[in-house]
Amino acid sequence: MSIPNLTVLATGGTIAGKADSATRHEYRPGQIGIEEFLGLVADLGIAANLTGEQVAAVGSEDMTPAIWHRLHGAISAAIADPECNGVIVTHGTDTVEETAFLLDLTLPTTKPVVLVGAMRPATAVGYDGLRNFANAMRVASDPHAAGRGVLVVMGERVFAARDVRKTRTRGTDAFQGFPRGSVGLVTPSSLDWFGAPWRTGEGARFAFRADLPDVPILFVHAGMTPDYVERLVTDHTRGVVVSGVGEGNMPEPVRQALVALAARGMPVVRASRVDEGLVDREPEDDANRFVAARALNPQKARILLQMLIAAGETDPAAIQRAFDNP
Ligand code: SIN
Repeated sequence: MSIPNLTVLATGGTIAGKADSATRHEYRPGQIGIEEFLGLVADLGIAANLTGEQVAAVGSEDMTPAIWHRLHGAISAAIADPECNGVIVTHGTDTVEETAFLLDLTLPTTKPVVLVGAMRPATAVGYDGLRNFANAMRVASDPHAAGRGVLVVMGERVFAARDVRKTRTRGTDAFQGFPRGSVGLVTPSSLDWFGAPWRTGEGARFAFRADLPDVPILFVHAGMTPDYVERLVTDHTRGVVVSGVGEGNMPEPVRQALVALAARGMPVVRASRVDEGLVDREPEDDANRFVAARALNPQKARILLQMLIAAGETDPAAIQRAFDNP
């Protein structure tokens, strides 16, 4: 490849944020449009042809299935374009792990798709957005990025979508990969991968759909009573993810309420509210008809469960197999 052709899809976030002051914390995400942003990138002088599209301009707390639908369509079109070598999505950091994982499950792995954000707005001292974007360009230009599923670049680390987690609310080192750490290290001029691609040439695992089933997350805490389950689960609910204490645990009365739901055929997945929470199957899971989330945190477990239910899967053993190998 001589000069790479990269498609840049903007959704908003702090990477496009502005504040009235260079030092105060308050700012407005999603203020810099794609044309202005690409102008800033052009000043970096990196050899690449960038084509931009504004898909949305939101703080990522306002990310919705409708925006995901537009984004998925735009990425699919770019991947199908023989001239396009890779795709970069600019995104708020608060929910980038969810968008990345959803895209990871619903896109082929034939071209690099890289999500990137920033922790400081463009007007701040020490704006990290351009540096992160230059790193993302490096990754999206590398054909070896393609067989690793959707990737997230933050700072000098490259994360796989299934692993990436926002673990700090502030500071530029806010992301970690769990349980595998980062899959690569990148600067604007260097890129080192840790290991070979593991998903070369794969098709999409699930068909994308915007009408995802209703799957709430039950956040467990000390003293929780089972009426929380009754209040959370409505006639529309198709599955439940438990953000349990420790290794996906919950008070006994809450467990009984969830067992009753599972016995009626509603998938129940046990995840953990602990940051590095690996939840393995326990002997009682068979009798309870529960699924263990393994290495997926509750917000990603929710997306995988939504995909499975939308595809017609409600059998706990089959759902467990999908969680064993996300
Ligand atoms: C957001 O997620 O849109 C705001 C926070 C950020 O991008 O860092």
